This record gives sequence, structure tokens and C-alpha cells, in this order.
Amino acid sequence: MDSDYLQIGGIKKIIADDIKAETAFEEKGKIGESVVLCNKIINNLKVLKKLDGSNSTYDSLIRSWEKRKEDISTSGSQGLKKTGKQTEKKGNTSGLIGQMEQEFRSRITSLISDSNVKWSEIGGLEEQKELIKEAVFFAMAQPDVDVKVPNLRNILLFGPPGTGKTTIAKAISSNIEATFFNVPISELISRYVGDSERIVSALYTIAREKAPSVVFLDEIESLLRQRGDGNKNAGAVLQQFLSQLDGFSTDDSFVMTVAATNVPWELDQAILSRFEKRVFIGLPDPETRRKIIGIHTTGKGYKVDSTMDNIVEQTDGFSGRDLFYLCSEAIRNMLRRTNKEIMEEKEKVIGGSSKVTYRVNPLSASDFDQALQKVKPAINEEMSKKYFRWKEEFANN
Ligand SMILES: Nc1ncnc2c1ncn2[C@@H]1O[C@H](COP(=O)(O)OP(=O)(O)O)[C@@H](O)[C@H]1O
Ligand SMILES: [Mg+2]
Repeated sequence: MDSDYLQIGGIKKIIADDIKAETAFEEKGKIGESVVLCNKIINNLKVLKKLDGSNSTYDSLIRSWEKRKEDISTSGSQGLKKTGKQTEKKGNTSGLIGQMEQEFRSRITSLISDSNVKWSEIGGLEEQKELIKEAVFFAMAQPDVDVKVPNLRNILLFGPPGTGKTTIAKAISSNIEATFFNVPISELISRYVGDSERIVSALYTIAREKAPSVVFLDEIESLLRQRGDGNKNAGAVLQQFLSQLDGFSTDDSFVMTVAATNVPWELDQAILSRFEKRVFIGLPDPETRRKIIGIHTTGKGYKVDSTMDNIVEQTDGFSGRDLFYLCSEAIRNMLRRTNKEIMEEKEKVIGGSSKVTYRVNPLSASDFDQALQKVKPAINEEMSKKYFRWKEEFANN
């Protein structure tokens, strides 16, 4: 599959060259050569369609080139010029390039996602939130005298999975009402091999157009990993990212890059040097766990019928995500417990034959205890130590 993706970029280049050549032949009246190239273009579009089936633009491209071939072969060079098809053809060609361009842009815009998160929905991490808010402030504000400003627009968040890095990136974006580009790097590289280099510059172009923007680079270590795997394209993508990250503090349109990684020790100096701010997002301490449990229970309108002390104590090593799952599970337990009879009628409800409401009761200690049997923390102590060692050496907090 990967080699398919490698081919896609190559074939697109060939098509682009053929289109140029075809136009030149046609303008010189070399109909034979023109038709040969039309056939080649059509065949290559068919190959592309096979390799890159997710893409619906190919059918219409193929149709438009088949029509063009027919026009050329039936009217001959004189005919084309006399009937004014020359101009129609030009429109066609730019239409085709336009379509490819459009397809490209729509891939980027598909990365734009909703970022509706308030700072108050992130439990604990007070020091980190302050550090990040300050960084965003200095990134957005202008100095009052003419000084050279270092690039303050890149922030690196690192820490164990599920600790709120993605959520923080969204909060940054939503707080400044920015356009949020959610970019999973590994997916970008594997999906758009051949194109991914162009994707990166297009990404930042569109981010500037839609400024203020936050570009969220998730799993940034994949930039290096894929290169190590011998994926040549990844090297080019890395270079493209590095030059974008070098920044444009002269540029007025506000684009901030927030990168995240669960494995900071895989990053190299080239990447690290682009991130002035490196913020450790660690596992929650007991007080933070209490807050996160609150956000995912009372914060969502549920009542809690018992003290949380016991649960807080028993969730040492849980990430925010683990706690979120724990709360969801406890809520489900409460709903099952409270709605036994109604649940017996679930066939009816699912069948849509009757409208039923269910009861919501306070969450009890046993709802949480049962949930604890199911949800286990995702990382171990040794991993925790590894994060702390890296933090000591490289982080701002
Ligand atoms: N500090 C936190 N406060 C509240 N919820 C959190 C917190 N950290 C994580 N979560 C919950 O865990 C989920 C996953 O967090 P996420 O930001 O995707 O983690 P990461 O990107 O670090 O892997 C979030 O959707 C949220 O529900
Ligand atoms: Mg994440």
C-alpha cells in the first residue's frame, strides 16, 4: 500500500508535464502527438484512480480529457482553431489544474476541526496553563519599540498519552477564536506520500489565509521516525516543516504551531531548537485527579452521592483520559442500576415504537468501585521516570 502512495506523487508529476507538452503540441497544430498525449494522460488518470480510489475528482477529469481527445481528433488542427475550440481547450486545461489544486485545498481544509474547549474544562495543570497563556500572549502582542522578536509562536507539549495535550491545543485555539488545524503527522506522511511535502507548505499558506490559526502537529516525532524507516519523502517533509517552524515573525497573519509528543526523547536537536517553549504535561496528582473527576461528573450535570477520597486515592497513575473513562463507566453503572425496568423495554425503544425517558440519579461510591474494576491506568512507573528525566533536561516547567 505504501508503495502505491509513493507512486501517486510520481504519476501526478508525469501528468502535469504531459499536460504542458500536450498544450504545446496542440498549439503548434501537431494533432497526432496531441492525441497520443491525451491517451497517456487518460491512462495515467485511470491508474491514479485505482491507486487513490478515495478521490472522486478523477472520474470527471477522465471524462473531460476524453472529450478533449475527441474534439482534437474530429476537428483537426485547422478545425480547432477555426471553431474557436482553442480557447475552449485552454479553459479546459486550467480547469483541470484548477480541479487538482482544489482537491489539494480540500485535503487541507478537511484538517480544520472544531476546537470548542474552555480552559476551565481542563482540570489542574495550573502552572502549565499559565505558562501557555503567557506564551500565547507574547506570541500575539506586539513590542512597543522596534526590536527583533524571537519566534515565540511554537509550543511543544510533551507527556504521557491521555494527559490533555490535544485538549490544551484546542483550548489555545478556541480562546483566541482561531482556525484549528488538526494535523496527525504520521497519517499525513503515509497518506500523501509524494504530495505531503506540498501539503505542508499549502497547510501553512491556508493557515495564514485563515489567520488567526493554530496548527496542531500531533505525534511530531513521526517526522523523524518515518525518515529512520527509510521513507525518503519523510526527510523532505521534515525539512519543509522545519522551515515553516523557523517562523515568520515579520508576517502579520498570526499562525501558532502547537506540537505534541508522547515520546519526547525521540526528538532531535533540529526539531527541539524550533520550540522555544517546551511544556511538560504530566500525570495528575491527587488534587488534580479530584478536579478532573469533577469536570467529568458534576461538570456535566450529574450529582455525586459520596466523598471522592477513596477514588482519588485509588487512581494513582491514571491519566486524564483514564479518569474520563472511569467517570463514563460510573455513569453507565448508575444508569443501569437506576433504570432496570426501563432497560427491559429496550427492544421497543430501539425499534422506535415508543418514546421513553430514563432516570438520572446521583452517582454512588459503588458505581465508581465497579468502574475501577474495568478501567486500568495506561502507563507504568518506569515510563513516568523517563518523562521526568527528560523534563529536567529540556522543559520550561
Ligand atoms: N486535565 C484534564 N482535565 C479534564 N479532562 C482531561 C484532562 N486530561 C485529559 N482529559 C480527558 O482525556 C481525554 C483525552 O485527552 P487528550 O487531550 O486527547 O490527551 P493527549 O492528547 O495528551 O493524549 C480528553 O478528551 C479529556 O476528556
Ligand atoms: Mg492527543
